[in-house]
Amino acid sequence: MAPHVLITRIPPGSSVDRIAARADVWVWPHDRDIDRDVLVDRIADAKGLYCMLADRIDPPLLDAAPALEVISTMAVGVDNIDLDACRRRGIAVGHTPGVLTESTADMAWALLMASSRRLGEAVDFVRSGSWEQWEPEGLFGRDVSGTTLGILGMGRIGTAVARRAAAFDMEILYWSRSEAFAVEREYGAKSATFESVLERSDHIVVCLPLSTETRGLVGSSAFALMKPTANLVNIARGPIVDTDALVDALAVGRIRCAALDVTDPEPLPPDHPLLSLPNCIVVPHLGSATERTRVAMADLAADNLLAGLFGDPMPARIV
Ligand code: DGY
Repeated sequence: MAPHVLITRIPPGSSVDRIAARADVWVWPHDRDIDRDVLVDRIADAKGLYCMLADRIDPPLLDAAPALEVISTMAVGVDNIDLDACRRRGIAVGHTPGVLTESTADMAWALLMASSRRLGEAVDFVRSGSWEQWEPEGLFGRDVSGTTLGILGMGRIGTAVARRAAAFDMEILYWSRSEAFAVEREYGAKSATFESVLERSDHIVVCLPLSTETRGLVGSSAFALMKPTANLVNIARGPIVDTDALVDALAVGRIRCAALDVTDPEPLPPDHPLLSLPNCIVVPHLGSATERTRVAMADLAADNLLAGLFGDPMPARIV
């Protein structure tokens, strides 16, 4: 009998058809996250789950899934999945590293440039009809080239950000769990303590996974160490930055500006103070949002799922 597979959102490309050719598939048909009660109900006889980063895969859900053998998430980040609980139950988990690295690093770069050169404010200025003449001192931004970049987390995406920084003649400092000798050799990056990266950097990009160690890591004591001219970019996960502390830091000019692809909560309510601060740019978790990359993620997630279901090695297995 074909295994039952539950897919929580329609992914781009042909991965649903590929899975449906070998499994009995049910797909949440709507253009929004699956309702929790539907997920809990539908997972009862699923052997495979193909999920998205907003789906909470926790022990209560796993308790409702006695037949579940494989989870495949269409994301590299797995903070929404209780990996220990999966390990204890013998459930394999796949994710999508590698295929989104360059698009996400491009987004880090776009945000870094946009916030340092005040593009959000500049676009609003023109759209509102306020632009009357060329100003010798209007909307001064901050240089990117020739300044110091701090990278928190030197994994695949941090490395791709460092490559871009080297092309902008930046001094690169990084703080990471392990030394990144190749990045030091190729791009001249220097390993430093967390505090030293914060104190010395003009721009700081967060490229860490969300874990119990990194949750709230960039909070008020971190902002106190940063330069008053610092620019903070987060392309990792919202809860790594303490949102209230960021609002305070931006509002009082403790740091100069920030640009966020990810927030906590996500999405932010429309009346959230971060959205009315002129020195903060927020975009809706778009790091991997190009067609090529999202299709590659969807394909890799399908490959992981099918391999796990049919006893082959999963191309990117994390548990
Ligand atoms: C991921 O894959 O974890 C990103 O946040 C979405 O592309």
